[in-house]
Amino acid sequence: MNISAQLSRRSLLMGVAGASALASCGGGGGGGVSSPVSSGSTASSSSTASASGPTLPDPATAPALKTHFNGKFLVGMTAEPSEINSAISQPVLKAHVNSMTAENCMKPHAIGTSAGVYNYTLADQVIAFASANNIAVRGHTLLWHQSAPDWFFVGDSTSATYRATVQARLERYITDVVTYFKGKVYAWDVVNEPTSDSAGSPYRNSRWYQVLGADYIEIALRAARAADPTVKLFINDYSTENADKLARLMSLVDTLLTRGVPLDGIGHQLHITTTWPPVANVRAAFQTVETRGLINHVTELDVSLYGSDPGSCFGTPATGCAPSLTEGTAAYWDSIRAQALQYRAMFDLFASQPSVKSVTTWGVADNHTWLSSFPVNRLNHPLLFDTTGKPKSAFWAVVNPTFVP
Ligand code: G3I
Repeated sequence: MNISAQLSRRSLLMGVAGASALASCGGGGGGGVSSPVSSGSTASSSSTASASGPTLPDPATAPALKTHFNGKFLVGMTAEPSEINSAISQPVLKAHVNSMTAENCMKPHAIGTSAGVYNYTLADQVIAFASANNIAVRGHTLLWHQSAPDWFFVGDSTSATYRATVQARLERYITDVVTYFKGKVYAWDVVNEPTSDSAGSPYRNSRWYQVLGADYIEIALRAARAADPTVKLFINDYSTENADKLARLMSLVDTLLTRGVPLDGIGHQLHITTTWPPVANVRAAFQTVETRGLINHVTELDVSLYGSDPGSCFGTPATGCAPSLTEGTAAYWDSIRAQALQYRAMFDLFASQPSVKSVTTWGVADNHTWLSSFPVNRLNHPLLFDTTGKPKSAFWAVVNPTFVP
């Protein structure tokens, strides 16, 4: 099966999985696709199974990521408010990032208590920490099918005024929230994951789509622009490295641009694995976006240690997932090595693409990651820093081209 066919199969399976709370998120699962880690990077790798990891440089000599990539792109990480004060995450954030994203507390279910009633308590903690440490904030997210409180949709859906009522609630929410954070965030994921995982209509069949049709995206973007004329407006989605998914996303985007809808860029989540995707797919996604005059942000990067999950692992129920790795085993270190090479390949690509303005990992360190429970509960260490907050092989592979993981 060629790569494109495997991707189509994976997308289809992930689309089926969309019924569960998290299953429609991007995730691991290369579906047996061969390794993409050759990317023109200068590193060599050892493929010999070893029950120990490589010797790592002294953490005290680690360069700050934000400095290393200065002039290329902002370096970001996502965090929960609790991580801002944690002994593991806080030093990493302070040392390495000049951008951050709230993992959950700026989503509609966190802020939108009811129509016109907002809870900014946790979001304010993230903003205050960022401000105190000269860190810019990406806003995530104003509209997402997985975070759509029922109050938006209350009412008689058969009444003649229902559609206008829901639209007005959406416009009010976006206007109020964007106004509140004006000057405090530099970009918003205005609409998160609007693209279908199946062939056919480019639009995800979400509640928003069912009530407002494709117009909901335009409504959201126009409201955001009206509330803040300068904040960068994004559509954020996963699997943009899949050519079919990318084509559907761009079809949706082209419709918006033709209508003169304000949009500055595309967010590529990049929840990837040790074996997927090839660098060429990600490059193609960036370049396709560029042709529309838009910029690119990498918004949710992580590299799962599981590169061989079958598509059914992303179904509901999740079946056939690779068994949990055990830290310290030869298989674990092999995955850590492959992960380092994948991270190097991706950051080399990001640095070579001037349209990439911001790169965010979905988490700070391996002690806190959504991949510990998705697609199943198992050990996963998908970030650049280990469970104690020390730089991993992946970190050194990114900042030092001669480091051999
Ligand atoms: O805070 C409650 C806690 O009080 C409660 O005891 C516990 C019981 O389950 O749930 C806690 O909330 C969880 C929350 O994360 C904080 O840990 C929610 O159940 C859980 O659904 C939520 O998951 C988040 C998910 O989005 C859904 O909002 C993940 O942390 C977050 O990493 C994930 O992020 C998404 C991006 O927004 C969009 N792209 C995909 C990405 C990964 O799924």
